Amino acid sequence: MVFKLFSDDVKTYQIVIIAQLRQPQIKTLIYQMTKALLYTIATAALLFASAGIHSVQANDEKLAFVYELVRHGARAPIIEEPKGWFQVKLGLLTATGMRQRNLLGSYNRQRYVEREGLLDEVYNPSQLYIQSTGVDRTIQSTYSELLGMYPPTNTQQLKKSLSEGSISDKAMPPMKIRGSVGLEGTLKATLPLYLDSYVNVPVYSFLAKNTPDDDIQPGGCTYALTYNSDHWNKVATYAGISDFIMPILREPVGKAFGYTRAEIDALTFVNIYMLSDVLLAENMEGDTPRYNFTSEQWHYIREAQKIVLLEPISDFARELWITKQFRKPMQAFHQRVNEILAQSNNNDTLRYMLYSAHDVQVANVLHWLQPVDFEVIDVPYASNFHFELSYNETCLQTETPNKYQCFSVKVLYNNEPIHLGTCLDANQKAGRHTKTCIYTDFIAHIDSLSFKGDLAAECERPWNSEPSPFRKSHQISG
Ligand SMILES: *[C@@H]1O[C@H](CO)[C@@H](O)[C@H](O)[C@H]1NC(C)=O
Ligand SMILES: *[C@@H]1O[C@H](CO)[C@@H](O)[C@H](O)[C@H]1NC(C)=O
Ligand SMILES: *[C@@H]1O[C@H](CO)[C@@H](O)[C@H](O)[C@H]1NC(C)=O
Repeated sequence: MVFKLFSDDVKTYQIVIIAQLRQPQIKTLIYQMTKALLYTIATAALLFASAGIHSVQANDEKLAFVYELVRHGARAPIIEEPKGWFQVKLGLLTATGMRQRNLLGSYNRQRYVEREGLLDEVYNPSQLYIQSTGVDRTIQSTYSELLGMYPPTNTQQLKKSLSEGSISDKAMPPMKIRGSVGLEGTLKATLPLYLDSYVNVPVYSFLAKNTPDDDIQPGGCTYALTYNSDHWNKVATYAGISDFIMPILREPVGKAFGYTRAEIDALTFVNIYMLSDVLLAENMEGDTPRYNFTSEQWHYIREAQKIVLLEPISDFARELWITKQFRKPMQAFHQRVNEILAQSNNNDTLRYMLYSAHDVQVANVLHWLQPVDFEVIDVPYASNFHFELSYNETCLQTETPNKYQCFSVKVLYNNEPIHLGTCLDANQKAGRHTKTCIYTDFIAHIDSLSFKGDLAAECERPWNSEPSPFRKSHQISG
């Protein structure tokens, strides 16, 4: 019996059942397995190296702070999936999804703990602020990513963060496991802790709806929430776009789900969006395709997702909501810059902010930022932003009139650099041969897109109520 380990390298990498082998063969087997392992390690190293290609810091550049905004990993569709392919319930994270976010966490560890030394080796609660939307798949995703960032290495570490969690009341409630009474004996024998009190790293998940702190969900800004919920399922919202896309997708998507003529004719753009969501989820898990879509059809299946994330939010609603989303990260950037300028050597300060969210946050931030020459079709599972604040030590040490010029912000979307117009223009004017933002230009860019009036007052009212007196202070480009 022979298993192929690597189908693309037939000669060497085969594992043969050990029981059938004599000594010399075992030697060969070990050799082959070692080689296979080395190949795997080399491949992984290569992947990491190429993934990290945009992150190489010059010697005098030091990383100071990172803001990460990320979509949950692969999940089951949000409507009933007719083939019953998924082993988890509607909208829940799949094993593939956990793996995606876990790998992202390992990557974060490699980059921000091991290479840059931004964060302590062992989870230090003062260095991270972690917030998840209160949805199963984002909470599961956050745990998966944090387990990649801080893999459990010894019980001391787990006990420490467990007590942090319960003392500060910022952890998830302990997990309940069905049938855990029966399992307890087995678990106790192998684990020093009860499984149902296992909390590795606290994840903020308890924020009440519509509090000033709820920046990440539209619920934190009633204007944005009501605008979105009143528009997302209306035919008129997608009028122009659907006139163009529906003729391309109606037939093939309807046929993929075995719909009748009448059902196909009745499909709306939002129906197509829901069905496309099923198709993308199945595709991600490697399910057999239900239909052979052309590449053009597949393109619009993906794009339909983005359209439903962006169209039902007006520019003004988006401006309010994303301004709110950015205010705490912006404060954190500023605080960190001031710490460095004050030459603070306290390591127990905020270095990493992680917002674990959905495609709607990621898509709207991407749109709001107005990146230069950057087209996206959709926002795949686990899509992520990393806003990296760095400073130039040489620059800080030499006399400079404006030390803020020594700080820069790099914006990465799925590890691709994002370029912002304000920064490109300023760099060109100053003769700087870089596309990365000087800190002050980054601030200027965000500022130019942000709402300038009374954010709390504007967010508080539903979109279709009387305009508030605060409205007149609103200026888009300030
Ligand atoms: C798609 O095309 C492949 C290759 O031609 C074929 O084997 C498969 O049955 C087709 N699938 C469907 C759902 O038509
Ligand atoms: C902070 O961390 C750096 C790098 O790990 C270390 O050299 C330094 O001693 C730490 N400072 C304090 C005050 O603990
Ligand atoms: C850091 O600052 C120094 C002095 O201003 C400058 O010569 C050097 O090129 C800068 N390094 C980077 C990577 O920008």
